[in-house]
Amino acid sequence: MNAALRNLGLSSPVLAAPMAGGPSTPQLVVAAASAGSLGFLAGGYRSGEALAEQITEVRAESVPFGVNLFAPNPVAVGPEAFHRYARTIQPEGSPYGLNLAAAPIVEDDDRFAEKIEALLSDPVPVVSFTFGIPGPGVIAALRRAGTLVVQTVTSADEARLAAEAGADLLVVQASAAGGHSGTLTPSDIPPETPLVELLGQVRAAVSLPMVAAGGLATPASVTEVLAAGAEAAMIGTVLLRAGESGASPPYKAALADPSRDRTVVTRAFTGRPARALRNEFTDRYTPLAPVGYPALHHLASPMRKAAAASGNPERINLWAGTGHRYATAEPAAHILTRLAGRA
Ligand SMILES: Cc1cc2nc3c(=O)[nH]c(=O)nc-3n(C[C@H](O)[C@H](O)[C@H](O)COP(=O)(O)O)c2cc1C
Repeated sequence: MNAALRNLGLSSPVLAAPMAGGPSTPQLVVAAASAGSLGFLAGGYRSGEALAEQITEVRAESVPFGVNLFAPNPVAVGPEAFHRYARTIQPEGSPYGLNLAAAPIVEDDDRFAEKIEALLSDPVPVVSFTFGIPGPGVIAALRRAGTLVVQTVTSADEARLAAEAGADLLVVQASAAGGHSGTLTPSDIPPETPLVELLGQVRAAVSLPMVAAGGLATPASVTEVLAAGAEAAMIGTVLLRAGESGASPPYKAALADPSRDRTVVTRAFTGRPARALRNEFTDRYTPLAPVGYPALHHLASPMRKAAAASGNPERINLWAGTGHRYATAEPAAHILTRLAGRA
């Protein structure tokens, strides 16, 4: 394992990925640490204050941890395309009393500056970024504060940009990954390059240490990426049903449902490519959704929340990677220990 990771006190090379929208709880992060691993609080969609509360909770346990943020990289949607899509998905909001067709266009930066300020005034061991690469000023300031800076990349070109920006470590994320792709160019659907091949391409481009992510679900797949030059493996989907995961009950149930046997990459829920279990919403709207993050995220968010609250998996963004069949309802530490080949 890379010295920077070892210095954090880790003994396992199998890390728990950040998963915004509920799954990454402080309990999941603490459970990961109990397995000698590193977990990440997901700062995406949260206010600086709500994130600070979670940080306080994890800190109380005196364990290493990271915080993940969405670095702004908006792709504005044209008003015509937005309103057309809002009208198209209107029937999906109606059962919950939502008038999606009348939704305004909301473009924001997920309160990025507020969260960076909080992380600079009260530094944490690790900060990771996805969606965009923050300006070099932000990365340098975090490093000066003693924080290890991690950047998610999905190609060799992105890895070069991350290295130029001053990142300490890369998460190399393959298209097999559950949830949003970290791609810097969300107007394109990321190519389905196998993770081991992607690691080779990134290694040929930059010398930064790599953490491999995307579709890792078995001890053998972890061994394979470590042999391919990754310092660590990062696990998302396979932790979603863990006791400490905050994924909603219908989302956990969908992951356990053997009839849900396919994942698709879709922009239908948020305007940004993300891998999810196929459901009625992805079937109907994947071909119709324009590019446009975060505007489409804000448009569909009330419907997704209402669907989760009412237990309807057909309108929930069931983010999942290709290894979803291996997600088990167990304590997170068991899952991480098994994947590290120690159980
Ligand atoms: C439900 C869910 C939410 C996610 N949210 C984030 C996030 O907030 N930030 C991030 O960098 N990656 C996010 N990801 C991607 C993961 O960090 C990681 O790259 C991915 O889960 C690895 O692939 P796997 O799911 O096949 O294990 C999310 C993934 C899932 C499944």
